[in-house]
Amino acid sequence: MCGIVGYVGPKDCSEVLVSALTKLEYRGYDSAGIAVFDNGEIKTVKTKGKLKDLEDKLNEVGKPGGNVGIGHTRWATHGEPSDVNSHPHSGARVTIVHNGIIENYIELKEFLVSKGKTFESDTDTEVVTQLLDYKYNGNPLETIDDVMAELKGSFALGIMFKDFPDRVFAVRRESPLIVGVAEGESFIASDVPAILKYTRNYYLLDHDEIATLTKEGVTFVDEHLDPVEKELKTADWDMEAAEKGGYPHFMIKEINEQPEAIKTTIMPRIKDGLPCLEECGITLDKIKDFNNITIVACGTAMHAGMVGKYVIEDLARVPVTVDVASEFRYRNPIIGEGDLVIIISQSGETADSLAAMRLAKQKGAATLAIVNAKGSSIAREADMLIYTLAGPEIAVASTKAYTTQLSVMYLFAFELALAKETVSSAECKRLVSALMKMPEAVQYVIDNCEKKCKYIATKLITADSLLYIGRGLDYALSMEGSLKLKEVSYIHSESYAAGELKHGTISLIEEDMPVIAVATQTDVIPKTVSNIVEVKSRGAKVILVCTDICARELKDDVANYVVEIPHTDELLMPITAAVPLQILAYYTAVNRGNDPDKPRNLAKSVTVE
Ligand code: G6P
Repeated sequence: MCGIVGYVGPKDCSEVLVSALTKLEYRGYDSAGIAVFDNGEIKTVKTKGKLKDLEDKLNEVGKPGGNVGIGHTRWATHGEPSDVNSHPHSGARVTIVHNGIIENYIELKEFLVSKGKTFESDTDTEVVTQLLDYKYNGNPLETIDDVMAELKGSFALGIMFKDFPDRVFAVRRESPLIVGVAEGESFIASDVPAILKYTRNYYLLDHDEIATLTKEGVTFVDEHLDPVEKELKTADWDMEAAEKGGYPHFMIKEINEQPEAIKTTIMPRIKDGLPCLEECGITLDKIKDFNNITIVACGTAMHAGMVGKYVIEDLARVPVTVDVASEFRYRNPIIGEGDLVIIISQSGETADSLAAMRLAKQKGAATLAIVNAKGSSIAREADMLIYTLAGPEIAVASTKAYTTQLSVMYLFAFELALAKETVSSAECKRLVSALMKMPEAVQYVIDNCEKKCKYIATKLITADSLLYIGRGLDYALSMEGSLKLKEVSYIHSESYAAGELKHGTISLIEEDMPVIAVATQTDVIPKTVSNIVEVKSRGAKVILVCTDICARELKDDVANYVVEIPHTDELLMPITAAVPLQILAYYTAVNRGNDPDKPRNLAKSVTVE
């Protein structure tokens, strides 16, 4: 998704903007640009391509010199990636950068065309530029407010008015935007990593608030243009956490950070050997009457929800439905008072997940958010909130966010089971103690499986298509393994419930097709093994991820390659079994020459529908 930055201060603005934009590259983009006040004139340089292309162009045409400006990385929605569709967009008196989608841009465009305005680009953004220009009355705040009242959809905007060369304005509705502050300088950015090089202090802009950045500092007004006092936040992680720290890619760095991330996430939520979620607004009394749970999320977060379903149903005996947010929000779901809707989201800004949560609230359900990004929209609006404390996740393909989401799902399932009295306190303590051992178990898997997975990945690079199979929890995990591989390697991959293969999908098996089987659940291992034999005898090349116990019992030739992981409590196996699948995906992508941190066409934070 698009990234926005802005700067007012003593430094070379062009340099600050480009440097800040590099920290937003993870969001995915196809063009980039900056606009800076240079001797009172707004000078814009923008181009299709990567930041390197922008830097080349800046060297070619000359970097705008000045101290006030805005910058953008664009992830195309309206109009192809091209120089002209790149941001910033300018009218006669205003220049803007935009993240989000203006849903009523067609009718606004028709109106503006009828008033004689002409358009250069195919973007919805240019409509905002022209509308600001059209409505400009000499007072920027009134003009912005007036325009906001006309806009439908989501937006975060960085705005400069030609008549005010000493300031940058910022506003947002739905799309994320923060305002960073340091001595004598201020920043806007779509996400905290963009400003960490300069400051850790920032404000969260609320919906429809307008920020004015000048050398003197930042002021905020609400939609009635009344001044707003805001709480200054401090990022609790630093530059190093947002840098690669010696690893070649963020993805492998974040895979390696999982033991620490899981530990940081679970330890503060355990007291006297039992889950303690009071600080998150969750008590036994508050959750004991929920008889119906829906988990709503997108992508990897939805897969964490799939594991959550198995665990909650197994332990707490409460029926759980898992739904992708984009479906849930448009299918008039049957939920209401007395039901619980859990929203899982790394970014806390995914447009569909946010809308799904609002719908759940509107229907009277209680909402629990499991979110990684502090202060994000989903975190702020949920009734109950458990943060995953994974730190910044920069690689587009989610890894440590996933395993910390799983860890939180376990803690919640344990707490619910206690509340429902479906497990005893002693059994719960046993489960919590097993969960506390997971950081160590994950570290063991990283240390002992990376080499083997790296080798197996060399066998996958020429595949056209793969299958992931498993049963029960292993099936839930297979979904994530398959997504991980396809998003970074660009090899077609599907996950299948192992027992369902023979009802159609087995016809796809041909000589040397890789099938990745996950078998960690003792009660269904013989069944999964039968399914492995079925595909292997039809020519499949089988890679089996299983527990050491399972490996000992299997015949040598059951699979072509076996990745053994230590046996832990079986309910918790998805946490450790996720790791080899992540590593396989990573090395397959690297071997194919792909950048695993920025897979083509994908965005880290999907703030549009
Ligand atoms: C995008 C990302 C995925 C992520 C999904 C949900 O598609 O590429 O990695 O799982 O969004 O994001 P969220 O921030 O809500 O977890």
